[in-house]
Amino acid sequence: MASDALAIEGLNAWYGDSHVLQDVSFRLRDGEILALLGRNGAGKSTCVMSLMGLVARRAGDVRLFGESVARLAPETISRRGIGLVPQGRRIFSTLTVRENLLVAKLPPRAGRAAWNIERIYDLFPRLRERERQLAGSMSGGEQQMLAIGRALMGNPRVLLLDEPSEGLAPLIVAEVGRTIARLKSEGQSIVLVEQNLRVALDLADSAVILTTGRCVYAGSIEDVRDNEALIAQNLGVFGGH
Ligand SMILES: Nc1ncnc2c1ncn2[C@@H]1O[C@H](COP(=O)(O)OP(=O)(O)OP(=O)(O)O)[C@@H](O)[C@H]1O
Ligand SMILES: [Mg+2]
Repeated sequence: MASDALAIEGLNAWYGDSHVLQDVSFRLRDGEILALLGRNGAGKSTCVMSLMGLVARRAGDVRLFGESVARLAPETISRRGIGLVPQGRRIFSTLTVRENLLVAKLPPRAGRAAWNIERIYDLFPRLRERERQLAGSMSGGEQQMLAIGRALMGNPRVLLLDEPSEGLAPLIVAEVGRTIARLKSEGQSIVLVEQNLRVALDLADSAVILTTGRCVYAGSIEDVRDNEALIAQNLGVFGGH
């Protein structure tokens, strides 16, 4: 369907002989947020890394706005329009904030407002204040903002956020949440990996739940919210960690 930003069909991934992602299928509609949920080790990061081509052994199809990217190299996939904010942020700690942003710049997309450094600083004023600071010397929250800003500099058509709230204080989690909501209001399609169920319930339109590498739920976020048994079985205690 033309309104699918991402269509994942029968995605499988292996680390050596270990078959960690098994026949995962779901769709992300254009302009929506899909929450990818599951316990530690369920395969969430493997899933988003597979979408980027970052897992060496994988099978299945990944279509970005109708075009298959499943067999492309990671760099080509990011040029086509999938941007990843990896778990643990992985910013370049020995580069400044500004340098981290500039190295990630990719051409703009037709029909979409282009990201540039000023627009990132408007989204995260704190990064403007710290633009000459070495990224590794910043707080965890600031590094997360930088990681999101860096991914946006690539003008992604789909943004993958792998646990953006992990390890952050509640006030900073709320700030990152507001930023994600703002990005959505500007039309950004997002896959949000979250262990903080509250954050996911607040932000997402739809949800996918993985349990030991298999998709046990794909549907609306409302149906997750109302299904205590589904939450208890697959996500643990309501409210996250
Ligand atoms: N590089 C790797 N080599 C071998 N096994 C791996 C590798 N990375 C992850 N795994 C295994 O694959 C499975 C899925 O891991 P993954 O990191 O995708 O889970 P996750 O849902 O992101 O967990 P978390 O919530 O802790 O981030 C786990 O059993 C993990 O131990
Ligand atoms: Mg993970």
